[in-house]
Amino acid sequence: MHRGSGRPVKLKETRLDVEALLSEVVFGHGFLHYGYWPKGRPDTPSAEVLGRAQQAYFDRLAAAIPAGAKSILDVGSGTGSNAMALTRLGYRVQCLCPSEQLNQIARRKLPATVPVHTLRFEDFDSAERFDLCLFAESFHYIELAAALRQITRYGRDGAIIFDYFRRAAQAADSGGTRGTHADFLAEVERQGALRVAVDEDLTEAILPTFYVLDHLKNAHFSPFVQRLRAEYRAANPVKAFFAERLLGRFLDRLVRPARREQSFAQRYEYRLIRLAPR
Ligand SMILES: C[S@@+](CC[C@H](N)C(=O)[O-])C[C@H]1O[C@@H](n2cnc3c(N)ncnc32)[C@H](O)[C@@H]1O
Repeated sequence: MHRGSGRPVKLKETRLDVEALLSEVVFGHGFLHYGYWPKGRPDTPSAEVLGRAQQAYFDRLAAAIPAGAKSILDVGSGTGSNAMALTRLGYRVQCLCPSEQLNQIARRKLPATVPVHTLRFEDFDSAERFDLCLFAESFHYIELAAALRQITRYGRDGAIIFDYFRRAAQAADSGGTRGTHADFLAEVERQGALRVAVDEDLTEAILPTFYVLDHLKNAHFSPFVQRLRAEYRAANPVKAFFAERLLGRFLDRLVRPARREQSFAQRYEYRLIRLAPR
């Protein structure tokens, strides 16, 4: 399968398209980032509280924008939900995202005055400048050195990055862009044009996202799928035999217990960072 550009579709992109669809349909807002839970785990883990925590994530991000900033380049803008909310707060926003699929959703949502650029941040080449570049869970998709050079070029007051970094003990994904926090700090120093003005570890406040997702899967989704399988087997033993041969391993994987709360904390740290010019 290929995108219109003739470029092969990556699994990561397809997953984002599916998550965008779910986020639009289930929550109505279209956020593609995790939730923010400053008070820890919710009493009742549900999709509804997850949707509210995603809004809280946006509010936390917006609160970090320095006073005086008026124009924002939303890098990795997803379905345009952050841009929409920023526009409502009075900022002049432009969106940038390489996925035409996501950008189509964004254009439907946003006023026509908000430009939506379809390309990678690394390839963005424009005479425009912005007060701030904003990365809501998108920085880890972008090649580090190029991202910092582009922030220096486009963000008069620097950038806000609300995203996760790979922990030092974790091996890098092959060809991946998810670097460590130490790699990030070293590259900021090496380039020399920016300084780290704010750097907070908010992993604990993000983790309940996975507590909720694990619970929804383990307590509801997987038992539901298993019950359907058993009922089908009882009602149609012969058809079920062939269906299981075809789909059994996929379904086994689908219902495998989720433990993302532990695995995310082991592998990643989630940070809110503000970069400013030196
Ligand atoms: C997890 S989504 C976050 C979307 C949105 N910021 C939000 O908070 O809902 C990551 C976004 O980064 C975009 N992205 C991936 N690679 C990129 C790149 N090289 N340059 C800019 N954006 C990129 C994806 O297409 C997607 O829109």
